Amino acid sequence: MCGIVGYTGTKPALSFLLDGLEQLEYRGYDSAGVAVLGPKGAAIVKSVGATRELREKIGNNTMASGTTGLGHTRWATHGVPSERNAHPHAAGPLLIVHNGIVENSRILREELEVQGEVFLSDTDTEVIVRLVNLAMATGRLPLADAVRSVLHLLEGSYSFLILHSDPAHPLIAVHRGAPLVLGLCDHGLFVASDVTAFPAEVGSTVFLEPDDLLTADPSGAYEILCISSGRKREACRIGRSRTEEHGKGEYPHYMVKEICEQPRVLAELLAGKIASGPGGLTVHLPPKVEKVLSGARRLRIVGCGTSYHAGLLGKYRMEGLAGLPVEVEIASEFRYRDPILDPESDLLVALTQSGETADTLAAVRMAREAGVPTLALVNVPGSTIAREADAVLFLEAGPEFGVAATKTFLSQIALLTLLSIHLAPEERLREKTGLSYQQLLSEFLELPRRLDKSLSLSSSIMPLAADLASAPIVLFLGRGGDYPLALEGALKFKEITYIHAEGYPGGELKHGPLALVDRGTPVISLISPDPRLLPKMVSNMQETLARGARLTGISSESAFSDMAPVVSTELSLPDCSPIFFPILSSVPLQLLAYHTACARGLNVDRPRNLAKSVTVE
Ligand code: G6P
Repeated sequence: MCGIVGYTGTKPALSFLLDGLEQLEYRGYDSAGVAVLGPKGAAIVKSVGATRELREKIGNNTMASGTTGLGHTRWATHGVPSERNAHPHAAGPLLIVHNGIVENSRILREELEVQGEVFLSDTDTEVIVRLVNLAMATGRLPLADAVRSVLHLLEGSYSFLILHSDPAHPLIAVHRGAPLVLGLCDHGLFVASDVTAFPAEVGSTVFLEPDDLLTADPSGAYEILCISSGRKREACRIGRSRTEEHGKGEYPHYMVKEICEQPRVLAELLAGKIASGPGGLTVHLPPKVEKVLSGARRLRIVGCGTSYHAGLLGKYRMEGLAGLPVEVEIASEFRYRDPILDPESDLLVALTQSGETADTLAAVRMAREAGVPTLALVNVPGSTIAREADAVLFLEAGPEFGVAATKTFLSQIALLTLLSIHLAPEERLREKTGLSYQQLLSEFLELPRRLDKSLSLSSSIMPLAADLASAPIVLFLGRGGDYPLALEGALKFKEITYIHAEGYPGGELKHGPLALVDRGTPVISLISPDPRLLPKMVSNMQETLARGARLTGISSESAFSDMAPVVSTELSLPDCSPIFFPILSSVPLQLLAYHTACARGLNVDRPRNLAKSVTVE
């Protein structure tokens, strides 16, 4: 969603702002803009579409010399994508860029219009800047005080940066629920929606917290105030990791780069969690994570999109192996459903790659208010949920830029499977899997190599994808732990190919989706090697074949060799225990979506209308 970047310092701001906006592109956006302060006031340039177009439009504009400025990528909420609605917005001498939503903006706007304010956009953002401008003018307040004086009027979760065209005023940043981070270097300071927007010379960062107001000037001096108390807050500086990987390298898209990184991501994740000692292999978790898990009698997993699907798989594994009851819910439903939370037994588990998803964050806060401990599985260190949860397990997947989550999903399902093995009583593990704790952990450590083999399916998937590119609908089927994978396969497919896709449990086929199957309808069937499920899946496949489906099966080598040939395309994965099958089968599903989107000539990394980090409801 919207990306914010601001700079104040001694070097020309424009190139920092444009480079920062490019790095924030992954969040999803439809228009962009920058403003730079100069001797004759502020110069503003906006454009619809890619930041590349904004760069071209700026050309050799003299704004390049100003050393303080703001930049913004907009993901439309109030008003269509247009230059008129793109940020920065201005009122009097003030300029603003904003992320999040002011929920009562319509009422505030009407009140301001009655007072004679003339709006130049349809955005909720313009309401903020007009209110601050009026407060400055009528109350003769300094900028920071004027900002503070209007915040109580604004409902919702948001953040913004405000600049005065007279550089004697400081740059102001307000965090009221949407992420902002301060970046420090020897020529000034940056404030942005996330650290990816900072240039390499930014050596340390300060994560702003909800209720923070930052004032900053070009000398690099800054102060953080608590908005409600007005008191100064000590900043906690964090050194910046130098290992953040940027760029697509040899790959044409971030998505395929991130898919191909998965064997390494899994190997590194497991290396930090499975240790070999005198007693054999054991799972090592941070003490806080062990503590919240040991007190849990029931898990309440929440997440959105792909993270929700990972949570569904977590339910199969936690209940199946560990015997721990689990409820999984989409965070936006959970938060408005009045869920019954029990601090004595529940552990809320938040799944989120970004750590910023507004609904998942609200669920974490609800749980904390109810006295329920919280555990977050998060990819982005320093993100809001990583900071607010009682305990955190990092996905350790490295930065993910493709809007469609791939490697972070793999880390989520791998961690949930690992936690389930870790929490399972030995006898139950043997009963459910036929293997011991030691055997399962050592097979787990083998999975990165098997993932490498799953990636080699790419060349067989390309012709299939070329075929699917013209399909009106694709059905994904699975049973057991493969059902969440069927949902995820369908989500990935629709997100980036714009082809309608549905994921269903095989057993539900006859209760509706079979009506969609006609001559040539593509069906992708996940065939678990679990002996209880395999014959059932084969029957489901026969049912679709009898109606003329074009059937693709994803299964393990030995399952295919034991099965009478039913599918027209076999995507054969290395053999593994059934509990690990979804970890391997996620790869061909991702590749299928990727190659189909490429065959359709679509923007794989930034699908229309979608954002990587959904910071508004
Ligand atoms: C957006 C992203 C998805 C992601 C979902 C939840 O929709 O495009 O890839 O699964 O948000 O995000 P989270 O950061 O909470 O996992």
